Amino acid sequence: MSKSLFIETLGCAMNTRDSEHMIAQLQEKEGYEITQEVREADLILINTCSVREKPVQKLFSELGVFNKKKKPSAKIGVCGCTASHLGDEIIKRAPYVSFVLGARNVSKITEVLHKDKAVEIDINYDESQFAFDDFRSSPYKAYINISIGCDKKCTFCIVPKTRGEEISIPNNLILQEAQRAVNKGAKEVFLLGQNVNNYGRRFSGNEEKINFTELLRRLSKIEGLERIRFTSPHPFHMDDEFIEEFAKNPKICKSMHMPLQSGSTEILKAMKRGYTKEWFIDRVNKLRKECPEVSISTDIIVAFPGESDEDFADTIDVMKQVRFDQIFSFKYSPRPETEAQYLPEIDPEIASDRLSYLQALHTEILDEIQATSLGKEYRVYFEELIRDGYVSGRSDNNLVIKVKGSEELLGEFRDVKITAIGRTILTGEILA
Ligand code: 5AD
Ligand code: SF4
Repeated sequence: MSKSLFIETLGCAMNTRDSEHMIAQLQEKEGYEITQEVREADLILINTCSVREKPVQKLFSELGVFNKKKKPSAKIGVCGCTASHLGDEIIKRAPYVSFVLGARNVSKITEVLHKDKAVEIDINYDESQFAFDDFRSSPYKAYINISIGCDKKCTFCIVPKTRGEEISIPNNLILQEAQRAVNKGAKEVFLLGQNVNNYGRRFSGNEEKINFTELLRRLSKIEGLERIRFTSPHPFHMDDEFIEEFAKNPKICKSMHMPLQSGSTEILKAMKRGYTKEWFIDRVNKLRKECPEVSISTDIIVAFPGESDEDFADTIDVMKQVRFDQIFSFKYSPRPETEAQYLPEIDPEIASDRLSYLQALHTEILDEIQATSLGKEYRVYFEELIRDGYVSGRSDNNLVIKVKGSEELLGEFRDVKITAIGRTILTGEILA
């Protein structure tokens, strides 16, 4: 009889890919099948995120719930970034946890499974870290790691401590993985790394050194591959060559994530982001000049230690100038092992007010942007069946669009005219 696996994945796309890899290993080597029911599972995995404190606190309450619901023989494993940074403390606080597996150690899933109370959280380089399985949670889109780890020193960020040094994966392995995904029917690849456009800085051995722009050029030559997306690029590494390739290569989707973090040059300096407000705006202007149809998303942290009203006004100013299509915004959350952790925090009420103000402003901007989509036509790649007889997909510039339809649209491209707008999803009709 097969064993069943319940897996919960939190955090970013890197974690999604790590989960895919663990699922593949457990299926191939241990005969596990996925279940959506905690009560039925023989193995329960939580793939955690540690970028802010709240999800870390929630982990322990969630573990308690899983422990109550689970079969007596079932094992619980904690994986991912919180596993990396808390290590054996997790087993001390929740002794029923069977093993702890860090974000950089997911390839060891089938080893730790058989060791009681194993804690694998080494962040040193090891080749097996980039031999990822081909299992994909979606047949239409292939997530592919192009680098692992992060060498930046952003003073708020725990990731370099959980995912270790940045190593680029040799380009021939990436190209082969993309080709295999296309052979299996995926028409889109989604390249993953903490700083994708820093690709090529450091390889494991004497690998051919190419930069991200060249990697994009080579990938786009794969026949049958129609769309290339990636996350996250770093504004500091957005040189003209990269922006020009992005604009002119028809296979690269016209959607760019540009994590601003703050609009104040002073705060950017304190965050060690490596760019100024002016550089960021200059890059946006260059991007929009070369590629007017691009949609731009961003990450913003409010109330970083020392953020004055003037600093926050600079963030608002950038918001108004750039008019981002999407924002992910957060209150600063002090993290262990980061440079900023001991800096005096901003009054939590001021932090909440700033976040609400920023989000309300963005909602206004978004409503205006979405309204301009009405009646427009987009080429949509359909990926998901949703409720009430609709199928959803994305336009090249990352709008989520639904149309009436069924399975036969999945994995297909169609031209769609927008007939109704909404904040998170647009409705359209397929053009004959
Ligand atoms: N506090 C709040 N937000 C953070 N992020 C990273 N670290 C922190 C922190 N300590 C945000 C950044 C990053 C996104 C993934 O999470 O905006 O781009
Ligand atoms: Fe991803 Fe960062 Fe969260 Fe780790 S801490 S899961 S790298 S967002």
